[in-house]
Amino acid sequence: MEFIMRNTQLLSKIATNDGHGEKSPYFDGWKAYDSDPFSPRTNPCGVIQMGLAENQLSFDLIQQWVVNHPRASICTAEGSKDFKEIAIFQDYHGLPEFRNAIAKFMEKVRGDRVTFDPDRIVMAGGATGAHEMLAFCLADPGEAFLVPTPYYPGFDRDLRWRTGVELVPVICDSSNNFKITQRALEAAYDKAKESNIKVKGLLITNPSNPLGTILDRETLTNLVTFTDEKNIHLVCDEIYAATVFNKPSFVSIAEIIKQTNCNRDLIHIVYSLSKDMGFPGFRVGIVYSYNDAVVNCARKMSSFGLVSTQTQLLIASMLSDESFLEKFIAESGERLATRHNTFTRGLEQVGIGSLKSNAGLFFWMDLRRLLNEPTVEAEMKLWRIIINEVKLNVSPGSSFHCSEPGWFRVCFANMDDETMMVALRRIRNFVLKAKELEVASKKHCRRSNLQLSLSFRRLDDIMMTPRISPHSPIASSPLVRAT
Ligand SMILES: Cc1ncc(COP(=O)(O)O)c(C=O)c1O
Repeated sequence: MEFIMRNTQLLSKIATNDGHGEKSPYFDGWKAYDSDPFSPRTNPCGVIQMGLAENQLSFDLIQQWVVNHPRASICTAEGSKDFKEIAIFQDYHGLPEFRNAIAKFMEKVRGDRVTFDPDRIVMAGGATGAHEMLAFCLADPGEAFLVPTPYYPGFDRDLRWRTGVELVPVICDSSNNFKITQRALEAAYDKAKESNIKVKGLLITNPSNPLGTILDRETLTNLVTFTDEKNIHLVCDEIYAATVFNKPSFVSIAEIIKQTNCNRDLIHIVYSLSKDMGFPGFRVGIVYSYNDAVVNCARKMSSFGLVSTQTQLLIASMLSDESFLEKFIAESGERLATRHNTFTRGLEQVGIGSLKSNAGLFFWMDLRRLLNEPTVEAEMKLWRIIINEVKLNVSPGSSFHCSEPGWFRVCFANMDDETMMVALRRIRNFVLKAKELEVASKKHCRRSNLQLSLSFRRLDDIMMTPRISPHSPIASSPLVRAT
């Protein structure tokens, strides 16, 4: 203990200020999963990871492509002749073919309605690195970005920790399906001003993590008008652009500014291949800025988080294969839609709603009616039961700075069909049990609040019995038959 204390004092304030945000339920859930991971054969009662926004549903297509294109991987007989040239390349502009392919891919994902200049593409270590890079370029320590809630918890780390930049929440709520209103923006802006915090920008995520919704044309136009009038930056995280699996289609900020007479120097896009392609391990992050000075500064900074040239070469080759890409994007969308439907409909049947959504690798589950009271404490109590007894790592809304307790983000694309069905059964049974208890407690008059802490270890036994009606869409789904 004394050693830790002494050692802590030897480190910088930033290194020891908890700015990483690791001590939050968002990351605690991951730890709970790591210490007891579910496996259908070896640990069927373990925790199922539903707190990780990963896109693993279409890897068979990627694997097939890699097998068919051995030259793209330089550690193969076919690729080895490029090995030396790629291994010694170290220009922080990146391989020209990589930037060209990324620009084309970003266009394709946006329906070829916009064009991107490869010379404006700057590499970063994932969207994580891209956000920090932009925060560094656009704001000084103590200055702030407005961020509509609920928002991705990683932003607290990515934008704030090493830059000293602040985030000011723009409070959105379920009364209008968490839409960002002019009123909420102005209120957040004024509040920051009253606290003597200088607002330098607005950060939006479209499609939204955690909501799985997209921003419509009108909202985007209003946001551009707002930032233009205030003369602040607009940073658009479009990392989930190709995960839109149902109508309406995705609208990029690039389309909006084409039709608006705004100051383009204020517009910046963050992108990455972590979600659309499912490659978080490759750390391919992109800053696309319409501002020359930002491009120049960010380019110099990219030395701190370059994408390996081996990865650049592979990605350049894969993203240049148009017919593969078309097939991949379409198939990935279909598989995401199927997953989303199976899950949300399965929950609907036991009375659990979720925010209507058409994008992302997750949905926003509404468990408000299972709370004792509408407080964060009650939400955390429910979350602890879900993680410790139902054995599902879903993420509580409070970790996304949601203003209303009782919402949970459920990730559905990071597991196989079999695991998904176990997860679905666990939630359904949990809710059914909770309902039974609710009825019982009402019958017995005033038995205080729901005693949700059931013997959930028994749940897996219950789950093995077919509680789903044979007439339900779930029962007839091939996914159910597979289990
Ligand atoms: C909205 C959003 N932005 C950025 C990131 C970070 O992505 P990357 O893995 O590319 O760093 C995530 C990851 O979940 C995210 O959801």
